[in-house]
Parts: sequence; C-alpha cells; structure tokens
Amino acid sequence: MNTQLQNIKNDSLKTLETLTAEKDIYQYKSRILGKNGSLTRLLKSLKDIPPQERPAFGKQLNTVKKEIELAVDNALTASRQAQKSLALSRDDFDPTLPGRTVPVGRKHPITLITDEILAIFTAMGFETVEGPEIELDFFNFEALNIPKDHPARDMHDTFYISDEQLLRTHTSPVQIRTMKASEPPLKIICPGKVYRCDSDVSHTPMFHQIEGLLVDEHISFSDLKGIITVFIHQIFDDQTALRFRPSFFPFTEPSAEVDIQCVICRGRGCRVCSGTGWLEILGCGMVNPKVFENVGYDTGTVTGLAFGLGVERIAMLRFGINDIRLYFENDFRFLSQF
Ligand code: PHE
Repeated sequence: MNTQLQNIKNDSLKTLETLTAEKDIYQYKSRILGKNGSLTRLLKSLKDIPPQERPAFGKQLNTVKKEIELAVDNALTASRQAQKSLALSRDDFDPTLPGRTVPVGRKHPITLITDEILAIFTAMGFETVEGPEIELDFFNFEALNIPKDHPARDMHDTFYISDEQLLRTHTSPVQIRTMKASEPPLKIICPGKVYRCDSDVSHTPMFHQIEGLLVDEHISFSDLKGIITVFIHQIFDDQTALRFRPSFFPFTEPSAEVDIQCVICRGRGCRVCSGTGWLEILGCGMVNPKVFENVGYDTGTVTGLAFGLGVERIAMLRFGINDIRLYFENDFRFLSQF
C-alpha cells in the first residue's frame, strides 16, 4: 500500500480512538474526509498516476475511506453513549418523573357538529354564506315581516346597541342580505352565532344557528320535506322517524316545526322528551311572499323554502349532553372528551 495512504490510515484510526468530544470528532473527520482533507486530496491525485496503477490504488483508497468512516461512526456512538451515561448519573436527574405531554388542540363539540351539518348540506348543493353578528333592525326583523309592534319580537328579545342596531337573533338576516345582493335561483346555508336574552339549562344568551334557503321556480313543500328528511337521517340515523307539525313564523307561510322521534328512548317516552316520545328539532316553511317583495323578487315566478336549526340542541342529542351551559364554560374535563 502506498505509504502516504498507510500513514493516513494509521494516524486517523489511532487518533479517533483518543477523541471523546463529538465536536472534536467532527473536526477531525473534516481534516481527513472534508473538501480539503488529506484523504480527499489523495483521491483527487488519482488522475495523476499511471493509468495501469489506477484501479488498484483506487480500490485501496476506497477501502481506507470506508474504514475511517466506520471509525468515525464508532467514535460518535461511543461519545454520545458516554454523554448519556453522564447525564443519567447526575443526582439532580430523576428518570422516573413523568414526561412532558405536548398539548394538542381539538375541535369544540359545536364546531364538530357545525362541520358535519354543513357537509351534509354542501353535498346537497347548498353554498355557505356568512353575515354580520351586529345587525340592522331592518335585516333582522322588518324585511322578515316582523314589524316593530309584532308579537313575534317577544320570542326574539335581544341586546340592542341602538334603536336600529342589535345583536342578530337568528341567521335569517343573512338570507335577506344575500337575496338583496343576487338574483334567484339561490341555494344557501348560513351558519353563525346568534343572541337572545335567555339563560337556563337549555338556553344561553349566545348560541349557534344554521339556516337554509332555497329559491327557484316550482319549489314546493315536498322539496322541503325531502331535504329535511335526508338531513335528519344523515345527522342522526335513517331509522329516526320525524313529523312536520303546523306552526307559525312571520317569514314563512305555511310554517312547520319538525319533531324527531326521541333519540334517547326511541319514542317510548323519557325525561329528555318529557314523556312525549318526540323532540322539537327545527323550524321551517315556505318563504312568505311578503319577504320576496321586501327584497324585490318576483313572487309570480319564484317560490322558496327555508329552515333554521340550533346547533347546540343537535349536539346535545348527539353527545347526550343535558346542560347547554357546559359548552361555554370551557371546562377542560368536558372539552377534552370530544
Ligand atoms: N329564524 C327562525 C328562528 O330563529 C327559524 C326559522 C328559519 C324558521 C327559517 C322557519 C324558517 O326562530
């Protein structure tokens, strides 16, 4: 073997045995194998030796290179091992302490159910639209056929900012805004926070609604029944019976409330359904022509259906939660179950 190569090999293997610090090992490695390292220079000189000697010398060079690389790896492993034993032997280090957990965020139950509901309606072709939470009286009430003296305002008692500005009591104003801004046909779903002066086990002053609106020619009550039935069967299960019960909303005519067979007792009657076997789940109806007039739609050509539901209520039934206030207390023991 070429003496220069022999020397590099002997020197480096011997030196590497004596080095203990990781930094020194890396430094030494680059002195031999780095860009300007002694072995690298020898490799570069390969082109200057007679062609017939090249293959044999090249082979030797490679063998030595591999040997040195292996010695470097061994030295590094030994160095790390030594460091670890040293750390473990320090008496202020207690390996029996529990590890630090990395906190991982998760979705709030209301967000989980909102996402699920939106996915169902998106699959049916509804487009998601959002609007402001501070609303004008006109969009929240007047345009929806609820004039100032209308008794329906009682059900929607809210927080007023001024005579004309209030926190919206439902997401229906988003439908008015959308109808005013665009021509039919329209197929939208409006999720968001809404506000009412209410507070007990089943009411919070702020809650979440999702309302849908479909406007086109020839939309009928059977379309409404079809859409709501598909929705209920997907969000609960397809064995869930439902019924449309006549009701009243100023902005729909006719109007209905939808009850589902109690998901807890399957209709036999329990505490959750007050023994009736049914649970009220959403309001709906055919858009009142007065509302179309208010937004400038031609009542001779279009009809529409609308529905609105409370997300908290659906989530309570899905997750078996009996107090709505749990959603907003931010108790980690509650939230981390979802
Ligand atoms: N906006 C109604 C409410 O909040 C719900 C609803 C929407 C009812 C659409 C019928 C049609 O009470």
